[in-house]
Amino acid sequence: MPAYALLLAPSANRVYADQASRLAVAELAAFSWVLSADISEVAPTRIGGVEYLAFESELSARDIAYVSNLSSAYALFQKEGDLLRPVELTPLGRYDSDLITIPKYAGKTNEQFTKLVLNLTVLASASAERMLDGQLTVLDPLCGRGTTLNQALMYGYDAVGVEIDGKDVEAYKLFLQTWLKRKRLKHTAELVPVRRQGRRAARRLEVTMAASKDDHKAGAVQKVTVIQGDTTQLDGLIRGGVADVLVTDLPYGVAHASYDEGGLSRRPLDLLERAVPQWLPLLRPGAALGLSWNTKVARRELAEDILAANGLEIVEHLPLEHRVDQGIERDVVVARKPR
Ligand SMILES: C[S@@+](CC[C@H](N)C(=O)[O-])C[C@H]1O[C@@H](n2cnc3c(N)ncnc32)[C@H](O)[C@@H]1O
Repeated sequence: MPAYALLLAPSANRVYADQASRLAVAELAAFSWVLSADISEVAPTRIGGVEYLAFESELSARDIAYVSNLSSAYALFQKEGDLLRPVELTPLGRYDSDLITIPKYAGKTNEQFTKLVLNLTVLASASAERMLDGQLTVLDPLCGRGTTLNQALMYGYDAVGVEIDGKDVEAYKLFLQTWLKRKRLKHTAELVPVRRQGRRAARRLEVTMAASKDDHKAGAVQKVTVIQGDTTQLDGLIRGGVADVLVTDLPYGVAHASYDEGGLSRRPLDLLERAVPQWLPLLRPGAALGLSWNTKVARRELAEDILAANGLEIVEHLPLEHRVDQGIERDVVVARKPR
């Protein structure tokens, strides 16, 4: 059986410290849902004093194309005796990587973690087979300044976001427009009021962009739509059945000090409870939803209960809980809308 050694990106150690290899094991296990071959003997290992993730598998070219997108993948080698033979990685990368790495602001969800949750969610969805070549649509209904939306663009997908804070939506528009201009990529971007029953109900940012002049000419454009509004009151603002996956990072609730009898604030879950019924109609049958949140303020079982109560099936995966800082332990839950 061919043996591989995966070198993890140095940034993975910065994000997850000593938990990087455990998270990579869990992510690789999720990729194995779509691979043509089993993956076995997965274990962190040291080669020449450097940590790698070792595994064995009969990977096909398409399997390698999938694994290339692992959020912590830096380089892959096939082991030949004591030697390592480089395996060419071909990650999806429609744009320059600074689309993802430039934005820096308080409250940003780490981009590598965002990619991990997007991967897990796509892999759990009915669109998993189309991950590498599909025109998927990703919804982030608490999108902040667009980390998930940018990762979706990078994969060649369309993106829809919702964000209540107008300053975040304006900052995202400014970033994307400036970046597209600097890269000399054809685009349009406008932020317009949306009326409901004659009254202004929200604002909508509409961006259309293409990765090259040829793509633009051929109509191969990507669309980003961001609704500036309340994610718990979306009625009619977003077309039903638009999303293949929903990926979002719930507010961390650290600043709020309301506690229930278990010593845990339910705030992010109160939001989730009100929002899920609004999000459900936006998901296609078979769509998956991936959420991350701070378990220090809201227990996992409660998050799962809310999703299950709305008819979603919880998708089992290896543990992904990890420490972010003193006040935040982050976990991920994935669920699927029945087909
Ligand atoms: C953890 S942050 C997400 C950050 C985002 N992933 C990023 O990297 O920029 C949660 C976001 O939810 C937004 N939010 C909170 N309540 C909301 C609501 N009811 N409707 C829409 N957005 C809301 C907050 O303004 C915040 O930007």
